[in-house]
Amino acid sequence: MHMDKMNNLNVKIGNNTLKNPLICGSGEHFIELDGIKKAIEAGAGAVVIKSINESDAAKVQLEKTDYSLLGSNHEKLTWDFNPPNDASLFNRSGLHPKPFTEWLELAKQADLFAEQHNSYCIASLIPASLDKMIDYARKIEKAGIRILEVNVGAPHGEEAATGAILLEREATRIKEITGALRKAVKMPLWIKLTGQSQEIPAMVKAAKDAGADTVTLMGRYMAFIPDIETQKPMLGTHAAYGGPWALPLTCHWLVKTRAQIGRNYPMLATNGARTGNDIIRFMLSGATAVQMTSAIFTGGYGVINSAIKEIEEYLDQHKMNISDLIGVAADQVQSYAEQENQHEYWREFTPK
Ligand SMILES: Cc1cc2nc3c(=O)[nH]c(=O)nc-3n(C[C@H](O)[C@H](O)[C@H](O)COP(=O)(O)O)c2cc1C
Repeated sequence: MHMDKMNNLNVKIGNNTLKNPLICGSGEHFIELDGIKKAIEAGAGAVVIKSINESDAAKVQLEKTDYSLLGSNHEKLTWDFNPPNDASLFNRSGLHPKPFTEWLELAKQADLFAEQHNSYCIASLIPASLDKMIDYARKIEKAGIRILEVNVGAPHGEEAATGAILLEREATRIKEITGALRKAVKMPLWIKLTGQSQEIPAMVKAAKDAGADTVTLMGRYMAFIPDIETQKPMLGTHAAYGGPWALPLTCHWLVKTRAQIGRNYPMLATNGARTGNDIIRFMLSGATAVQMTSAIFTGGYGVINSAIKEIEEYLDQHKMNISDLIGVAADQVQSYAEQENQHEYWREFTPK
């Protein structure tokens, strides 16, 4: 099982091999080339550029963002790029501020730079209208960018200005959208889905059947946090919320989805990874690779290096290749009924 150290972090997603499973998920730190280069130089397997669409409202929204880092008692932490591992992030976001042609040029340069480092810079769309999404996808393919991710589940969909961001929750819509994209382009296509739906396995199946090379599971949640000092809403609005607590929730849906659609379809995890061990947890639950965003946004590019090191150490200790991890825990899950009977065992857990 143990291969030489040079190869043992490789993971395969459709026809693309990533040199390691750490994908930097899309965020503000990838609005500019500089951030993308830093992540690639820090060793990321891939970086997803900040998403774009044609809506001016989505661009303007980038001027109205705000971000709070919170401790486990909902208290505000200092934004010092050295957060505790259990910090949660509460924020509004917008989309890439540049016109599409400039963004496309940036994405092209970034992917060329990535290629020189045996990495990828992935183009990313958060559609506002389906016609433009198809038009942009074609242009992205034509520009020679190697992979496209389309996020149809951005959590801000319902709070953003009308028409700025599409948020899809139904398998039938996922099938239509993926099908339309697959017809328009041949390039590798990743579909990023919301976690705010009860149809997650069905949405994954729909994306798979319609020709997506993989899916990214799953977007953050919308939240509301009252500030007890001011008695006002923190940040003034509802906003997206994520933290390490989200990892088990994402894992739950990875395992359920794998059970329904089979072991051979690659899935990417997002929402909850803060460390290399978290990437391992996601992979044991069935992910082939993991998108990490908040940990890098709030902790800096050094997080990439340390996470990869942590994974290498784990694999060395366990004498495994990275791909040996995929789904190992998922495939051992049992039902409640399969558990051993233990008479009145619950008494041990009740207060005396
Ligand atoms: C500040 C911020 C901006 C984001 N912008 C985008 C975006 O433009 N496109 C996208 O697909 N996801 C975006 N996301 C979602 C992240 O890529 C990621 O899926 C999510 O934060 C959950 O992963 P995490 O727990 O590693 O942060 C953003 C997240 C944050 C925190």
